[in-house]
Amino acid sequence: EQTRQLIDKLEAESRLAREEWIALLEGRSPDAAEYLFEKARKWQHKYYGNKVYTRGLIEFTNYCKNDCKYCGIRRSNRNAQRYRLTREEIMECCRTGYELGFRTFVLQGGEDGAFSQKELEELVGGIKKAYPDCAITLSVGERSHESYLGLFQAGADRYLLRHETADEEHYRKLHPPELSLEHRKKCLYDLKKIGYQTGTGFMVGSPGQTSAQLAEDMMFIRELEPHMAGIGPFVPHHDTPFAGESAGTLELTLFLIGLLRVMMPKLLLPATTALGTIDPKGREKGILAGANVVMPNLSPTSVRKKYELYDNKICTGDEAAECRACLNRRMEQIGYKLVVDRGDYKEES
Ligand code: SAM
Ligand code: FES
Repeated sequence: EQTRQLIDKLEAESRLAREEWIALLEGRSPDAAEYLFEKARKWQHKYYGNKVYTRGLIEFTNYCKNDCKYCGIRRSNRNAQRYRLTREEIMECCRTGYELGFRTFVLQGGEDGAFSQKELEELVGGIKKAYPDCAITLSVGERSHESYLGLFQAGADRYLLRHETADEEHYRKLHPPELSLEHRKKCLYDLKKIGYQTGTGFMVGSPGQTSAQLAEDMMFIRELEPHMAGIGPFVPHHDTPFAGESAGTLELTLFLIGLLRVMMPKLLLPATTALGTIDPKGREKGILAGANVVMPNLSPTSVRKKYELYDNKICTGDEAAECRACLNRRMEQIGYKLVVDRGDYKEES
């Protein structure tokens, strides 16, 4: 009963106080979740109908100078087989993607110093020139304001940088000492100010995470007002310090997706690969909880397995065309449609 009232309040006021968030998260039940998802779908339909946007993900390098404790491509994982795609290989992924109907390319990678600012700008510029009707999303970690600005001017439209957790203490537990939440947040504010459609997000069920910390995540997202929020379960990777930890749950991840949709109805919300990894119908359930984006992989199959952020990642053996067809089918089965469209954030109501 109290949980439903809090859901109503969130819907009416678009925000909750810290204690209310905690009570809502701790008081959740299957009934409350159904109540929430119905509202989430109502808002999803109001702004996006039954459309699901697709982004073609190109994982172009798995070299990374960082050592995040949860991540399979962290610098100190000696067992990771490192690779870097050439400019030609990346362009080839875009060509395949374009033919399959993708109008957004997401270039994601570790923080790899081997790609200079100039090379990245040329890469973005080259893709933009070849595919002027496409949006380019970058997801290459923390950089200076100047670097973000240069990439924006070169043609990048969007940027994904999850804050991972908005709680200082938890942030320190998940990351090496040289990384800070403060700097991560600064990057996000820089990106927004420059004019990127900005995406943040967090992992659900990372080791030791509490409801109070999740409350911080929801409050931070409210404060930042991003255009996108990517949330997915933490999934352990066998060669990391968190190898023996358990994964985040489907149930909690879906509940948080529903809450995000109700809090900020226009948000672009992906049903993530990690969600599809912990449950065979994870992505479908994500869409039915309020998500409206999927991001199938366009990376060459030869490198798919090497971009192993966590164990048992799905789709590592499939060609881009198979993933596209598979997702088409999956979305149709639940009454949604994958669309060929840049899928920009809806500024107008
Ligand atoms: N280097 C860029 C960055 O830090 O934003 C982009 C690549 S990074 C690998 C992309 C995302 O993968 C991270 O934001 C993190 O949330 C997610 N990730 C990494 N390891 C994970 C794990 N074990 N389980 C779930 N998600 C994970
Ligand atoms: Fe990749 Fe289903 S989405 S195989």
